[in-house]
Amino acid sequence: MKLRRLDQILSSCGYCSRSEARRWLREGRVTVEGKTPRSEDTKVLSSQVLVDGEALEAPEGVLALYHKPPGCVCTHETAEGTTIYDLLPQRWRRRHPPVTSVGRLDKDTTGALLLTDQGALVQRWTSPKHKVPKVYEITVDSVLDPNMVPLFASGQLTLEGEAAPCLPATLEILGPRQARLTLVEGRFHQVKRMFAAVGRNVTRLHRSRFGAYDLARLPEGSWVFLDLDQSASPLDSGSGKRA
Ligand code: URA
Repeated sequence: MKLRRLDQILSSCGYCSRSEARRWLREGRVTVEGKTPRSEDTKVLSSQVLVDGEALEAPEGVLALYHKPPGCVCTHETAEGTTIYDLLPQRWRRRHPPVTSVGRLDKDTTGALLLTDQGALVQRWTSPKHKVPKVYEITVDSVLDPNMVPLFASGQLTLEGEAAPCLPATLEILGPRQARLTLVEGRFHQVKRMFAAVGRNVTRLHRSRFGAYDLARLPEGSWVFLDLDQSASPLDSGSGKRA
C-alpha cells in the first residue's frame, strides 16, 4: 500500500469527486486515524481513511464474484434494458476505473460472473491464450446423443460463420436433455452455437464456475468480494474458491 492524496483516494473509490472532497473534509465526514485532515491533498494510506465513521470499501480495488440473475445484460449501454450495473452498488460505477465484468453472459444466462476494476485481470482472464476453464450447466430442447461427447472433444467442431474449429471441450451428459460443458475459450454465444451445430436449442444456460471461482451456494443476485492478492491466476486452485 502506498501513500496517496486523500481526494484521489475518495474519488477513485467512487465516494465523491475530487472537488467535493474539500467540502466533505470541511463537514468533518472524513477522518484519518481519528483526526480530520486539514487539506484534501494530504497524503495518507487508504486503509486509514474513514467516511462517516466507516472504512472505505475495497480501497485497493474490487474483485467480486456475482451470481448473475436472468433478464439483465452485461453492458454499460442503458439502451439495452436492465444492466447488471443497475443491480450492483451504484458506487462501483463511480469508481475510477469503474467496475466491469470479466467477459459477458447473455441476458437469459445465469451464474458466475467476475467483476473487477483491475483492467489487467480482465485482459488476462478473457485472453484465449490463458485458457481459463468455464463450466456451464445446460438444458436443451431434445435428447442428447452420446456421439456429441467425442465430437466436442475433437477440436473439429465448427460454428456457423467461423472457419477456425472450437478448441477441445469437455461435454458430460447428465440426463436426456441435461449436460455440463467445460470450455477454455469464450467466443460470442459459444455454448448456444456449439449446440446449434449439433441440432439442439439451449433452453437453459447457467455458468457454475469461472476458473477457480465456483458459485457454490451464493444466491442468485448476490455477490461476494474475493481476495485480490490471491487472484494471480484463476487456475491455481484444484478444488476452487467457494463463495
Ligand atoms: N455461451 C453462450 O451461448 N451464452 C452465454 O451467456 C455464455 C456462453
